[in-house]
Amino acid sequence: MDRPDRPESCGLHVGLIMDGNGRWARARALPRAEGHRRGADAVRRAVEASPELGITTLTLYAFSADNWRRPADEVATLMRLLESFLVRERKRCLRNGVRLALIGRRDRLSPALIREIEETERTTREGARLYLRLAVDYSARSAILTAAGKLGSERCDESGFLQRVNRACHSDPETPPVDLVIRTSGEQRLSDFLLFESAYAELLFIDTLWPDFDGEDLRRAVEAFRGRERRYGGLPPAETIPAAS
Ligand code: FPP
Repeated sequence: MDRPDRPESCGLHVGLIMDGNGRWARARALPRAEGHRRGADAVRRAVEASPELGITTLTLYAFSADNWRRPADEVATLMRLLESFLVRERKRCLRNGVRLALIGRRDRLSPALIREIEETERTTREGARLYLRLAVDYSARSAILTAAGKLGSERCDESGFLQRVNRACHSDPETPPVDLVIRTSGEQRLSDFLLFESAYAELLFIDTLWPDFDGEDLRRAVEAFRGRERRYGGLPPAETIPAAS
């Protein structure tokens, strides 16, 4: 079977679980909404830093399908922030070759937000430096279940199924698997984020709270990733014994 890795020249796919906005705000006696606002600034810093670090796909966990359980005013704040982010960042994305797309369900989002999403996706669709995916109303388990449900009795290999999982969350079907998942704020879990796509991802948990995250944190994370040995279930190269002829 083919190794599930890809040549380095393809660029990295990094998934970011942006956690710690609430704790950042609490530590400063500020409302949680302020933590989220500062979190949106950190999103821009991460996006700007990505291309030069060799990242060609960046998936940011902005709102999980389970985040609807939060108080209504916090959900409204997050949706407003998302909408204003799309309006504000559209031109910058266009200038910087960033193709922005939303992955996740859309049927529970407001018509105004959907309009901004579609306009941003349309405006930035030619962006070739970075494919930026914002995961909103996203659940990896739902995407896997949808893809499996559509498969019926058909058969496919892992890469064929990955395409189906991508389609199930409205992503470009050719989106590659994830190389590195970073979660901020010291929590160590995946929270239903890119579960199929991260089968062989390296995981990095860092203590920085998301609103403090900057390009230097991302550079250090990529450096740590490049220092890891990815074996995909095999042996390190030095221990690989050539097959007997
Ligand atoms: C987790 O922190 C963060 C979220 C649930 C939302 C992430 C949203 C942003 C970074 C801002 C808006 C995003 C965009 C793309 C404009 P938490 O609230 O769970 O923090 P806590 O665990 O410290 O309470």
